[in-house]
Amino acid sequence: MAQIVCLCNEVFDEELREYLDANPVNSIDELREQASICNKCMQCQDLVEGEIYLARQRRQQASGQSS
Ligand code: FES
Repeated sequence: MAQIVCLCNEVFDEELREYLDANPVNSIDELREQASICNKCMQCQDLVEGEIYLARQRRQQASGQSS
């Protein structure tokens, strides 16, 4: 079941993962510039940074498998 990651912007974890898979983002600052995520109270920063990290790992794994 989807869980809310960023309460202020009502972003769910599934949405965030899809976004990160479609739009490679390397840092939380980039994400704040590109999308309205974690740009208000910033309580979600740890969670969002965790998702950015996991998305980068998924990309690395995918590129490793295809080579
Ligand atoms: S919960 Fe994400 S900015 Fe407030």
